[in-house]
Amino acid sequence: MANNEIIPIEMLLPNKIPIIPLNGKPIFPGIFTPIMLSSQDDIQTMDEAMQSHGMIGLVLVKEDTDKPQASDLHEVGTVAKIVKRINLPDGSVNIFISTLKRFKIKKSLSKEQPIMAAVEYKDDQGEDSDEIKALTRALISEMKMISENNPLFSEEMRLNMINIDHPGKIADFIASILNIDRTEQQKILELFDIRERMERVLMSIKREQELLKIQKRIQKEINEKVEKSQRDYFLKEELKAIKQELGMPTDAKGSDYQRIKELLEGFGFKGEIKELVDQELEKFGLMDPNSSEFIVTRNWLDLVSKLPWKAETGKDFDLAAAKDILENDHYGLKDVKDRIIEYLAVRKLKKDSRGSILCLVGPPGVGKTSVGRSVAKALGKEFFRFSVGGMRDEAEIKGHRRTYVGALPGKIIQGLKITKSRDPVFMIDEIDKMGQSFQGDPSSALLEVLDPEQNFSFRDHYLDLPFDVSNVFFIVTANTLDTIPPPLRDRMEIIQLAGYVDTEKLEIAKRYLIPKSLDKAGLKRSRVKYTRDALTAIAEGYAREAGVRNFEKLLDRIHRKIALQLVSSDDGDSPAKRYNIDKPSLEKYLGKARFDADDIKRASLPGMTVGLAWTNMGGDTLIIEAVANPGKESFKLTGQMGSVMQESASIAYTWVRHYSADAYNIPSSYYEERQIHLHIPEGATPKDGPSAGITMATTLLSMVLNKKVKDRLAMTGELSLTGQVLPIGGLKEKTVAAKRNKIREIIIPKGNAKDLEDIPEHVKKGIEFYPVERMEEVIAIALP
Ligand SMILES: Nc1ncnc2c1ncn2[C@@H]1O[C@H](COP(=O)(O)OP(=O)(O)O)[C@@H](O)[C@H]1O
Ligand SMILES: [Mg+2]
Repeated sequence: MANNEIIPIEMLLPNKIPIIPLNGKPIFPGIFTPIMLSSQDDIQTMDEAMQSHGMIGLVLVKEDTDKPQASDLHEVGTVAKIVKRINLPDGSVNIFISTLKRFKIKKSLSKEQPIMAAVEYKDDQGEDSDEIKALTRALISEMKMISENNPLFSEEMRLNMINIDHPGKIADFIASILNIDRTEQQKILELFDIRERMERVLMSIKREQELLKIQKRIQKEINEKVEKSQRDYFLKEELKAIKQELGMPTDAKGSDYQRIKELLEGFGFKGEIKELVDQELEKFGLMDPNSSEFIVTRNWLDLVSKLPWKAETGKDFDLAAAKDILENDHYGLKDVKDRIIEYLAVRKLKKDSRGSILCLVGPPGVGKTSVGRSVAKALGKEFFRFSVGGMRDEAEIKGHRRTYVGALPGKIIQGLKITKSRDPVFMIDEIDKMGQSFQGDPSSALLEVLDPEQNFSFRDHYLDLPFDVSNVFFIVTANTLDTIPPPLRDRMEIIQLAGYVDTEKLEIAKRYLIPKSLDKAGLKRSRVKYTRDALTAIAEGYAREAGVRNFEKLLDRIHRKIALQLVSSDDGDSPAKRYNIDKPSLEKYLGKARFDADDIKRASLPGMTVGLAWTNMGGDTLIIEAVANPGKESFKLTGQMGSVMQESASIAYTWVRHYSADAYNIPSSYYEERQIHLHIPEGATPKDGPSAGITMATTLLSMVLNKKVKDRLAMTGELSLTGQVLPIGGLKEKTVAAKRNKIREIIIPKGNAKDLEDIPEHVKKGIEFYPVERMEEVIAIALP
């Protein structure tokens, strides 16, 4: 073949060539490259070519297939001269080829492999114009830029590119090494016009450059991030070292974080709770410890970690032991204790602690709070107490949203955190004095807490996670039921505490208040002794209210004075020193008595009657008085009477005017010529209600008849226009008050006779009750 070398190779190109189908990518002219033939068809095709002219056609298949047919081929391919053949051990063959020129298949001479085709060779078309030159330069310089930034382009490739002189070949070369897809490459191969080809390649380069730019930017960003976190890490380590050097606490957050995280994980949260807790924990881990948010999140996590999510519940209690505890903690209150024991027995039987709420109602100082505390003790449960008196803001119960500055959880969640128990006793004091305002209605929040239908997933605004409070035993206290919102009242098991008579107060003082108060003052119990007279005098002269809180305070005052004397006297704290408190010595400690011992309310003149009232402070006695002056008929009322009481005064007046005419022949001129004035002393205290009706009528008649009402008689009852005596409330409290006032007889409505059973014997002792139906009966007893 040596003599063939000077003949231009184009002239030797045969019109028919065997075709090797290419999977993958097309091969451009002007390249020296190995190709691997692994299919037997390809090898056979190659062998045939070797035996004749040594030329093969390389044509890309439209889609990769195992057994390509003529119809699977693109139209344009490259003719190549086989330079060398290497047989590989696995039977496949590697050939080195030099690609020469484009061709277009005119006709396939066989359908299946080996495919022979009649071809038409294609020269590059187009003039070597200035435009082509400019394009060539552009291509080379762009390509340089890419190749410099891309290690995949070898030095050899670069040189190669510079050495190619023909513009069409440069385009081909670049197209063959650019990372572009096969269809694009095939398209370029099919462009015989140089300019078009170069432009298309230039576009591909541009696209490649864009990709490179993006790639670079991403890389840079990643690098920066890595660098920053590395830098932060080193700085933090350095800070830690500095802190250590200065003896400052290092990494408070780290240990905090670890501790809280472990605590929280210990709860094994699920679902919504887990999601939120994890989220906050993660946030916490990333936060700057000096930011304000950090504290907020820390406090929240701390709260969550301290709530009794898992603490055991349902510890059983011993009913007999509970009974003993209740019995020993308080004097008297037999019915209250019985009711509580019954209630506890039911709870014990019903097992699940859900259901009603205990409500203790009574005047101040009768032991509501202390009975509640005792119930907790009897049940062996934690006790938490808070007052809702005067509370106006719903947030006090349900908390503030965490987004508020200084937000706190509400009382319920606070209580759970403090007691660390899932089933504590919560005492809610003064539920009757709860307010309402624009900040929301605390009673509806409370209802949510107390309602067994809702409280298994109570949601505090601050915590913002559902918490089951259905195991909490709620005890609420109130002075009166009247102002408790009815929906709340309906859910309660109501137990009334009526107040104490003097003998009870003495016992309570002796057994409980005195020892307690001595302890408080740091005095030995044997140091101070009281005579019975002294205690009675305190009850009668200084502490006349229904409860014993004042009594307790007075004892405290006495003991503080004694303690002071002990400390400041010369012989000091000599254990021999004893204090005997008798009636005359009281004035020394407590000053003058507020009430004269005999200062009890008595109807000492005509036109006076002792009535019985029931207020938030307990039962009370009151005097109703009336006088008449000459003048044009009028009826005047004073003493802070409410509208219901004023109406009942009118009824009394009308009834007396009528009855006095009938029964005593009092002419109507008597009234026409008089201005009658009815008054209830202690006018500063507002009074209302209909239960003074019969008392007012009795007073008026006593005045008209100028006849004194029976001594030590009190009465209570509503009066109707026709003279019926209607039932009233609070008989027990009123009786206790009457007893304190040394009353001997009480007129009550017949409708209340059944209530007498509820009044302890020792209270009723020494009092005669007259249940009546009609006003005439009242008159018969009061003005005999
Ligand atoms: N029956 C009682 N036995 C013993 N102590 C009593 C009794 N009733 C009240 N007390 C004491 O009187 C004080 C006031 O009682 P407290 O429970 O505060 O009354 P309340 O809550 O009804 O206003 C407490 O020290 C309480 O222990
Ligand atoms: Mg209380």
